Amino acid sequence: MAGVSLQNVTKAYGADRPVISGVDLEIHDHEFMVLVGPSGCGKSTLLRMVAGLEEITSGSIRIGERVVNEVAPKDRDIAMVFQSYALYPHMTVRRNLEFGLKLRGIARAEIDRLVSEAGKVLGLHELLERRPKDLSGGQRQRVALGRALVRNPAVFLFDEPLSNLDAKLRVQMRGEIKKLQQRLQVTSIYVTHDQVEAMTMGNRIAVLNGGKLQQVGAPLELYERPQNLFVANFIGTPAMSLFKATVADSGGALAARSFKLPAPASAKGALLGRLGKQVVVGIRPENVLGKGRSPRGATAPLELTVDLVETLGDEVVVYGSQGEDRIAFKMDPHDPPPFGAKVQVLVELDRLHLFDAETELRITA
Ligand SMILES: Nc1ncnc2c1ncn2[C@@H]1O[C@H](COP(=O)(O)OP(=O)(O)OP(=O)(O)O)[C@@H](O)[C@H]1O
Ligand SMILES: [Mg+2]
Repeated sequence: MAGVSLQNVTKAYGADRPVISGVDLEIHDHEFMVLVGPSGCGKSTLLRMVAGLEEITSGSIRIGERVVNEVAPKDRDIAMVFQSYALYPHMTVRRNLEFGLKLRGIARAEIDRLVSEAGKVLGLHELLERRPKDLSGGQRQRVALGRALVRNPAVFLFDEPLSNLDAKLRVQMRGEIKKLQQRLQVTSIYVTHDQVEAMTMGNRIAVLNGGKLQQVGAPLELYERPQNLFVANFIGTPAMSLFKATVADSGGALAARSFKLPAPASAKGALLGRLGKQVVVGIRPENVLGKGRSPRGATAPLELTVDLVETLGDEVVVYGSQGEDRIAFKMDPHDPPPFGAKVQVLVELDRLHLFDAETELRITA
């Protein structure tokens, strides 16, 4: 097995603005790295460059100890699973699984062993003689996985493999892929635009936007300490509430448009130098406490007018506003406030995330 290393990798089509700009990323041996970002940010392009399906404009890519810039896809010791499954429609499942192995001249007995093993792992035994058209979407995706599995590659590359499945099957399959990877320990790069998939599957997550890496870290690290506004906004459902504020009172207060909050004690030093400047304040819904929730650490009260209530089952997410600023918080589902009600909440001050309004970079430690 092998790690994958991207050094200053850039991709440009013709004279256009680069689609990928100077990406440095180390994927460790055995690691499950998720590459996440909005549509068009360059995820597939980056993955296809690792696979060798797309040339790189500059930089270098290593798989294990070997620089693979000039190595053909078939010689990179990788297996890729696509969103479209890309199965051969005229071949049975068995022949789909065998095909790549035959091409590589592997002996019949070994092929049978590999197919049987993958069949067992993925529950494909009863399906081996069917054609792809006689399978459900989930079963097709399983065959596509099986085809990657039998190749026994050093690295798995996944490009949104679950996005054609319905919500329930997606959750089931993401658990299965994760378990499979934990058992086999094959280094994996998994592309998705779904941040929940990223959070639940990744050992680490790399967030990409506009062809540039925004932050790389463990799921909780990204959730608790987003390094810039993009990551703050992208990771977490419901999203972090964000509002602009001016630094006031010698760095001790944050004045939003229609309310004022004390600054977190830990940020006072950093804010002193920004007196009168604009910052963006972020707060996650679980850190704004409705009735009956007990706070940790210093809090400030805030009155909000309810303008939307979303029931999730175990709790409700309430969106309340004061003036033009909107803040989400969570409440017990049995006693949600009516639309238009005024509610008192407590903001956990040590949980505020502060960002520079100009650079959009994190200010709080
Ligand atoms: N052959 C090409 N010529 C010019 N631009 C291209 C080409 N292929 C892709 N692009 C552009 O590169 C950018 C990144 O595309 P890419 O497919 O990598 O995005 P993505 O993050 O995978 O998006 P999605 O989530 O929609 O799959 C897009 O703006 C796309 O239009
Ligand atoms: Mg894509």
